Amino acid sequence: MIAKIEQLLQEVEAMTAGSAEELEALRIKYLSKKGAVNGLMADFRNVPAEQKKEVGMKLNELKTKAQEKINALKEQFESQDNGCEEMDLTRSAYPVSLGTRHPLSIVKNEIIDIFARMGFNIADGPEVEDDWHVFSSMNFAEDHPARDMQDTFFIENNADNVSHNIILRTHTSSVQSRVMENTQPPIRIICPGRVYRNEAISYRAHAFFHQVEALYVDKNVSFTDLKQALLLFAQEMFGAETKIRLRPSYFPFTEPSAEMDISCNICGGKGCPFCKHTGWVEILGCGMVDPNVLELNGIDSKVYSGYALGMGIERIANLKYRVNDLRLFSENDTRFLKEFEAAY
Ligand code: DAH
Repeated sequence: MIAKIEQLLQEVEAMTAGSAEELEALRIKYLSKKGAVNGLMADFRNVPAEQKKEVGMKLNELKTKAQEKINALKEQFESQDNGCEEMDLTRSAYPVSLGTRHPLSIVKNEIIDIFARMGFNIADGPEVEDDWHVFSSMNFAEDHPARDMQDTFFIENNADNVSHNIILRTHTSSVQSRVMENTQPPIRIICPGRVYRNEAISYRAHAFFHQVEALYVDKNVSFTDLKQALLLFAQEMFGAETKIRLRPSYFPFTEPSAEMDISCNICGGKGCPFCKHTGWVEILGCGMVDPNVLELNGIDSKVYSGYALGMGIERIANLKYRVNDLRLFSENDTRFLKEFEAAY
């Protein structure tokens, strides 16, 4: 009889049920009136007196174990049932409203992406800068008008003592200097960032805006390299049919300098109000890095040469998306921002 109980104990231990019906069948098999445990109870009468204690204890153990196991399985079923009741798979998903990427970020990422494919790495520098990195190291003469208080925000030391040394950067060209002072060529970097100018805010001017600067310095870098990079950039950004033209210009930090126009992407170059009927729109400034700038930043201008270019991200975004009021970019009007949902 001990052997029989042992066997049932093992069976009970291994018991599993896949459904409530199976569980009920197990209960009937072991614990009902006509079940295995009661059957053994009936046989107990015939156990010799000297074994009664041992067998009795075993039998009780079996009864308790069977009861416990069946209760445990039942609980498991009940909690699973509850879970199922709460989970309504036909319910519609919780409405999570997603934000949209800002149009300036979309355009910035696109510019970075194009230059990254030409081997440019991202660099950055501080927005609160010193005069050296923004102006002096970029070859601005002491009396250059850009240093004038009309253009530059100066950081005050205290209420009536204005420091002319610490300013808000007026262009990302300062990052050129930040990189060159710490790195020897080859340098091939692109730096997106925010710049500040003391301008009255209107539909076409803002006190802050965004630029992307590119700088390439190495041995034998020529104007041809610049022109090729510009053409590739313009065609990737505005479409393969885009033409470019370079007009001579002046910047303190490049020599020679140029401004680049692209064929108007609104009228395709035929002439329209947007391009003032010229067929061309200006998009960036560029040139060969002035040897003075290389020397001022610790690079030997007899060994190395380079090109640089800088563009306004708002300007590119205007051309791509025809946003004709600059202020929209910084007003956080979600109706405007939502229009760019599909743009990336
Ligand atoms: N820093 C110029 C600006 O803010 C843009 C610029 C022009 C950057 C020519 C350049 C460059 O690197 O070569 O208007």
